[in-house]
Amino acid sequence: MLAGEVTKALAVDLDDALKSAATLNGLSVPDRNRRGRQHAALQEKWLAQFPSDDSLRLYRASLQGGDAQKGRELFHQKVEFLCVRCHRIENEGTSVVGPDLTGIASRRSREELLRAIVEPSAEIAPGFEFATVILTTGETLTGPVHRESATDLVLGVSQDGTERERTLLKSAIRERSASSSMPPLASLMTPSELRDLVAYLAGQNTPSPVTAPTRF
Ligand code: HEC
Repeated sequence: MLAGEVTKALAVDLDDALKSAATLNGLSVPDRNRRGRQHAALQEKWLAQFPSDDSLRLYRASLQGGDAQKGRELFHQKVEFLCVRCHRIENEGTSVVGPDLTGIASRRSREELLRAIVEPSAEIAPGFEFATVILTTGETLTGPVHRESATDLVLGVSQDGTERERTLLKSAIRERSASSSMPPLASLMTPSELRDLVAYLAGQNTPSPVTAPTRF
């Protein structure tokens, strides 16, 4: 029954079903074990499609299908995710901690949206980089990048609870790494929640009528 063509959306449902004890509780032990083995085989087959160095492979099933309305509820209401604490969307909200996601689908593909949630630091939205730099003097500084030119980097550096700007000469920087201040929230989501969120974001095609506020 399960050996046939497996749709990608089905893979997510099965993954969820496997995690949800409720769907297995009504079954006898042998049935439950058999179902578990079927799920495991299915998952293995699904994962085998992608190269092992594909960092999104465990999440790719969430690129298909999804319920945008449920995703909207998760985005706005699920307290563990707090998306609205950091993002405006649909021209609503006040936070400028993260980029305004109004019309995000006109700028990002589904895969980019998935990656933004699963691996926030893989590609950082312009203007939202959080940098760690090691200077040639050995000093290490971290903070949000306020501005940058070919020769200078302006970081917001926190000292004694207040943020001050430090202008650094790029030639005085030995090492620089960038990270996102968005928490890696995918670990708190079921595959189905992740899929619904991606479906919701992928439907945000209406661009903002006004210029979105920028962080700095
Ligand atoms: C603590 C604040 C915070 C929370 C909570 C948060 N984000 Fe973010 N998010 C950010 C920041 C900062 C960025 C910009 C840096 C980056 O690209 O990773 C970002 C970037 C993004 C991007 C990429 C935007 C672009 O222009 O490329 C998406 C999509 C996104 N977040 C979705 C979400 C979703 C969905 C949730 C809830 C599950 C969420 N975020 C929760 C802070 C947050």
